Amino acid sequence: MTQFQKDYDAKRSQAAIDRVRGLIGDNRLALADRIAELYDKYIPLDRDVLLREALMASVASLTTPITGKPDKRRIVAVCGRSGAGKTTAVAKHVENIKAMQSYIDDDGVEVHPVIFIDNPSPSTPRLAAIAGLEALGHEPRDEIRENEAWRLFRRLLKVHKVRWVVIDEAQHAIEEATIREAKVIGNAFKTLTQMRDWPVRLILIGVPPLASFLARKQLYNRRTVVPFDSIDADGSTEVIRSVLETIVREHARMEIRIDLEEPGASRAEDDDDPDPKKKYEFLKRLMHACDAEFGSVVQMIRAAVEVAILAEREHVTVEDFMKTYASFSGCRPSKNVFKADNWEELEPSTALLRDDDRAWEEARLKSKGKSATKYGVRPQ
Ligand SMILES: Nc1ncnc2c1ncn2[C@@H]1O[C@H](COP(=O)(O)OP(=O)(O)OP(=O)(O)O)[C@@H](O)[C@H]1O
Ligand SMILES: [Mg+2]
Repeated sequence: MTQFQKDYDAKRSQAAIDRVRGLIGDNRLALADRIAELYDKYIPLDRDVLLREALMASVASLTTPITGKPDKRRIVAVCGRSGAGKTTAVAKHVENIKAMQSYIDDDGVEVHPVIFIDNPSPSTPRLAAIAGLEALGHEPRDEIRENEAWRLFRRLLKVHKVRWVVIDEAQHAIEEATIREAKVIGNAFKTLTQMRDWPVRLILIGVPPLASFLARKQLYNRRTVVPFDSIDADGSTEVIRSVLETIVREHARMEIRIDLEEPGASRAEDDDDPDPKKKYEFLKRLMHACDAEFGSVVQMIRAAVEVAILAEREHVTVEDFMKTYASFSGCRPSKNVFKADNWEELEPSTALLRDDDRAWEEARLKSKGKSATKYGVRPQ
């Protein structure tokens, strides 16, 4: 799709949205805007410092290339499980780095130094190259061959003055790849970063299969991995608490009507069980419900706040989380992590998590003679 088409489509879409807005009452519109505002906020974590450093190093590797030996700054890979917050973080940082911003060149043409490719699933080396061509606004003919597609892609990157290629869901290129295909992809990535007249830098985003793939010889010396780990199950109630408070109090300007301390929010008020394990029970349930992935926690809290906003309340309650969990997971009430007494034994089944990724991880661990993923532990 060309830039003109993209702008035209964006205008059409905005016009359609404006029309619908005109048909909705002011009150509903105010609620919708409040919800939209909530979804617009970004919450930085320690890992953002690492990601920013890796991306700045990638900028530096273009301006001051190392000659003669491989450079680890050529590929930045953001690896973590589904719902960790990878795509959001990369988009946010790219937006804030000057060298990555669009500009008008000497010929008066708008240049976008970064392109985003959504890797299709299932993918092959050929389909990956085609996705790249499409991201550049090019429509390759149906019968284009694999090596031809990669050659054209490399040439067009130079024509469009693209310096960074972000490949999201990069694991699709290798998950089901044969040995030959994995090699082709590995070489294609490597070649992109060392084109003599127009080297580009890669930013790969993916779930753990990607990290294993990048450990292979061709790529190992050319990549920096930024891990987006799961939240540590035991030590992170404070992080979750601060995220909850930030979203509810600062972003939504609402009150939290949930007992975040002992004896656990969902227990009866007269239950004064002194067992310290029960402390911060609500926060632990929240973490468990989201399978300890930061982005999923953010999504869950926002959705619960949305329930409260739509109910025209100025506070959130445990019931908002129960409802949210029920709608995400489609579970029966007895299996609701925010309600059930045996919540720790329940397998969280939110719609945010992708079964395919879990199945892949488990199969891989089993093949190595290890047991499958435990809650809060991210395999590599
Ligand atoms: N730092 C953050 N601040 C605010 N919201 C965030 C942040 N990180 C993630 N989110 C929210 O969490 C949700 C999940 O994040 P995201 O889609 O980036 O995860 P992901 O790791 O790319 O997952 P997947 O592998 O499934 O693509 C998004 O709705 C996003 O808005
Ligand atoms: Mg993503």
